[in-house]
Amino acid sequence: MDVHSWSQPDQIRVRHIDLDLDVHFDRKILGGSATLHFDGGSRPELVLDTRDLDIQAVENASGFELGERDPILGSPLRIQLAPGCSWVRVHYSTSPLASGLQWLEPQQTAGKRHPFLYTQSQAIHARSWIPLQDTPAVRVTFRARVRTPGGLHAVMGAERAGGQFKIERPIPSYLISLAVGDLEFRPLGERAGVFAEPPVVDAARREFADTEAMMRAVEEMYGPYRWGRYDLLVLPPSFPYGGMENPCLTFATPTILAGDKSLVSLVAHELAHSWSGNLVTNATWSDFWLNEGFTVYVERRIIEKVYGRGREEMEAALGRRELDREMATLPETDCVLYLPLAGRDPDDGVTLVPYEKGALLLRTIEREVGRERFDVFLRSYFDHFAFQSITTDRFLAYLRSELPNSVPLEDWIYRPGIPPGAAEPQSDAFSRIAAAAARWQSGGPIEISGWTTQEWLHFLRLLEHPDMARLDREFHFSESGNSEIQQQWLLMSIRSGYEPAFAALERFLCSVGRRKFLKPLYTELLKTREGRERARRIYQRARPGYHPIAQTTIDGLMAR
Ligand code: BES
Ligand code: ZN
Repeated sequence: MDVHSWSQPDQIRVRHIDLDLDVHFDRKILGGSATLHFDGGSRPELVLDTRDLDIQAVENASGFELGERDPILGSPLRIQLAPGCSWVRVHYSTSPLASGLQWLEPQQTAGKRHPFLYTQSQAIHARSWIPLQDTPAVRVTFRARVRTPGGLHAVMGAERAGGQFKIERPIPSYLISLAVGDLEFRPLGERAGVFAEPPVVDAARREFADTEAMMRAVEEMYGPYRWGRYDLLVLPPSFPYGGMENPCLTFATPTILAGDKSLVSLVAHELAHSWSGNLVTNATWSDFWLNEGFTVYVERRIIEKVYGRGREEMEAALGRRELDREMATLPETDCVLYLPLAGRDPDDGVTLVPYEKGALLLRTIEREVGRERFDVFLRSYFDHFAFQSITTDRFLAYLRSELPNSVPLEDWIYRPGIPPGAAEPQSDAFSRIAAAAARWQSGGPIEISGWTTQEWLHFLRLLEHPDMARLDREFHFSESGNSEIQQQWLLMSIRSGYEPAFAALERFLCSVGRRKFLKPLYTELLKTREGRERARRIYQRARPGYHPIAQTTIDGLMAR
């Protein structure tokens, strides 16, 4: 039972969707039809999820009714069916404020000349642009025809087939995606490539040059990549996430284009979802850790294989520390892997807990049973549940039967915090950074040549009440072009009231819409009266450029 959907897939199950859509940039509207093919048509009613859709007509039905709008779930669309009916066609258009769409003005893009549109369906935003059974428990295939105005390029997380898109492997609704803009393509190898606006496409090609190597790395461990092509799409900076694992076409923030491949663990992460998430999918948003915990585990294995053990250890250690830091700010009830979400927006359950605590659980099991056996288990898990949506209980039953172990699974999954006996990531490089940080804080000089992004991040996070002016003078953080380092620097600048960084802070908040960066910065600002005023002033200017999902998050912070 999925508390985030009105649809009743145990009654009728949609199996295939044909989409026919026109993109109207002038009115910020998608309009057209969705034809849904289903099983179980002896039932009298099909219930679909919608949010802010304008339903014009339903073909092949005896009637329809749009129910009252729930602030989280949207409105159920109840469609009356004649006996034996196996399809309906819904004619509809979207709202300019659709929660799963962002319509960008030309000045919000890299090229500044053409508008841009992209979707973000996870968690429950597909319903704001397609009427469907919006639950990850239901998988569909689809075909789509998308008409775009003059010269603009449409891409979807799907296969291109003539003038259409199609996906022949069944996917959950949260993976349906579309983007339209002035896009160019560069190949990265046989199966991989990158789409981006012309001003960034070559930088993206260089940054993502290791994509094919990453694909081979996962395939060696967990079996063949089953989705045909693996392309990346670099979005404008307002994209609210780091990445989104849309099948065949990962959507990515441009903030990972650091110039030195130092932030490509995001590519490893989204690629890993081609197994954990897209192949084996969480059945409800309470089981989200099955998607993200497994994906972070696989991501780190890719990083180890492609970039070496040292880099993996640093990233795992950074993740471990950030997990503790975040858990300290969360209510205990949010520090569990299986998260009860009734009455809550599933986007609220997105903390580091499902990611890092989930990955730590898998690492802990791996340490007990040994890597070889754990890999055999994981590979058979992906095969056994391929193209299915599963619950935490089904995972647990499978784990207990295939790989008996003494890890206290119930404590990990249903209790807050990290149980004793967890496999703690260790990094020798970070021990050296800790020593350097101590030396620097007592006024001494330090040797920094060859430090990587991960080392700088660790260094900064270790400093307590640092002399900000001295840091900037010696290391020029204000000029860092690395978004992770810049965000960390700005966070520290707010904490210590370091005025010279405030102009850069405002520029950052007005140009980047990635929620993971925005949320800590606004939260930190809101801690003091002066900061609150600054936050309000900046947010007023920045808000129109943010994605509806980021707006909802920051509105929530501001209202507290
Ligand atoms: N699937 C998530 C993004 C997501 C989660 C969107 C929940 C909507 C609701 C994606 O795979 C992800 O985890 N992205 C991370 C990056 C990753 C490297 C941790 C992000 O966006 O920061
Ligand atoms: Zn993920």
